Amino acid sequence: MNINEWCAIQYKSDPPQSPFAPTWDYTIGEKQIDIDCEQLKNIILEKEKEIKEEFPASSDGNTGLGPDSLTSRFRHFNVLSWGYEVTDQLHEEIKKFHKQYYRSLFGAFATPPKLNIRCWANVLRKGERIKQHWHSIHPHTYLGGHLTVTATDTKTIYVHPYDDIGRKYEAENVPGKLTLFPNYLPHYTTVNQYDSPRITIAFDLTSLNSIFTDDDNTLIPL
Ligand SMILES: [Fe+2]
Repeated sequence: MNINEWCAIQYKSDPPQSPFAPTWDYTIGEKQIDIDCEQLKNIILEKEKEIKEEFPASSDGNTGLGPDSLTSRFRHFNVLSWGYEVTDQLHEEIKKFHKQYYRSLFGAFATPPKLNIRCWANVLRKGERIKQHWHSIHPHTYLGGHLTVTATDTKTIYVHPYDDIGRKYEAENVPGKLTLFPNYLPHYTTVNQYDSPRITIAFDLTSLNSIFTDDDNTLIPL
């Protein structure tokens, strides 16, 4: 479905005919935004060095990227607090897209809840990939997403929660593509086969004020 500026990929089960039949209803939203990805790439590669020196690795979020990755420091920084014009613009774009997504699902006058955002970056070098994982399944689970900053010939694959064999959505990673999806949805990437890094900025939206007991104060208002 094309809703003016963005595209909705919708999965909805037919009404259950048995008390044991599974049900699902979720939407993956994709939107091409006009943002300086070259500048974002340079900022992230610079910050990657600083952050890796400053903080030891903790969880890599089950991505398989391991302790040498920027991803394994995701609890210690927020890209949207870096203070660059381009990161502030990204913050606004996420806010705007979330409102569009929310209102397309719940009505043109629906008011989105008050949310916080955690926002980090992933840098995948040649031979690396993100293995299948999800972000949360607790009762406050909300949406997550990412922006592709730079990628050559890679995909993110979103796995159906029940039909993990057939019903996968394979999304080409296109620089400037902003994606929103429910945070319980399993996803993974293909391998970066090129010398140039694959860089994405990822985020979680939450109504909670803190998610992990051991993280820094990295959640900021959306
Ligand atoms: Fe993820």
